[in-house]
Amino acid sequence: MSHITSARVLVTGGAGFIGSHTVDLLLEKGCKVRIIDNLQPRVHPRGKSLWVPEEAEFIQGDVANPLDLSRALRGVDCVFHFAAYQDYLPDFSTFIHTNAESTALIFELIVSDRKRYPVQKLVFASSQVVCGEGRYSFRGAGEPQRGGEGEKGLGVNPWAILSLRAASEPGRRVM
Ligand SMILES: NC(=O)c1ccc[n+]([C@@H]2O[C@H](COP(=O)([O-])OP(=O)(O)OC[C@H]3O[C@@H](n4cnc5c(N)ncnc54)[C@H](O)[C@@H]3O)[C@@H](O)[C@H]2O)c1
Repeated sequence: MSHITSARVLVTGGAGFIGSHTVDLLLEKGCKVRIIDNLQPRVHPRGKSLWVPEEAEFIQGDVANPLDLSRALRGVDCVFHFAAYQDYLPDFSTFIHTNAESTALIFELIVSDRKRYPVQKLVFASSQVVCGEGRYSFRGAGEPQRGGEGEKGLGVNPWAILSLRAASEPGRRVM
């Protein structure tokens, strides 16, 4: 999108870590920003935080709910999709429902009515899981041990090493 400064932008998960920084930057650039976030209680135990700016329109809703998402998506040019259920919890189906189904639902709504949902650009976060957890070793019986700190402890997954190097370069931002 060439003219981000005049864009109407939806940030899903805009009250969260990555989403809230994105919201700040977009407002700084002059965008009209809407947030949809369900204020997941584990992430927001005290409700809506002060860092959610008044200048952004805030919808408390669920990205996996077609009615909530349809309301949030209406009339926006660009979507940053950062709403996510995370943290290695064992309710695996909730991950799929929130993270994968919501993504499918965004596309479903967009193709259903291009006038109502004139989205031109979608940005998704990758997952920190692509970096892997590094090398494990077994020292006798019991649980496997993590390989240790730094590059020596990483190993099998080349992306892990690339990420670590990139993260340690001054001024480099890694998402
Ligand atoms: N933080 C990192 O280091 C990192 C690294 C790589 C990728 N990511 C990815 O970036 C994305 C955002 O991560 P984050 O660190 O900002 O997470 P976060 O938990 O801080 O923010 C996620 C936000 O989504 C909201 N949310 C959860 N379920 C929702 C639902 N059903 N409907 C609406 N909102 C909902 C939460 O309330 C929260 O505000 C995730 O997909 C994550 O996997 C994060």
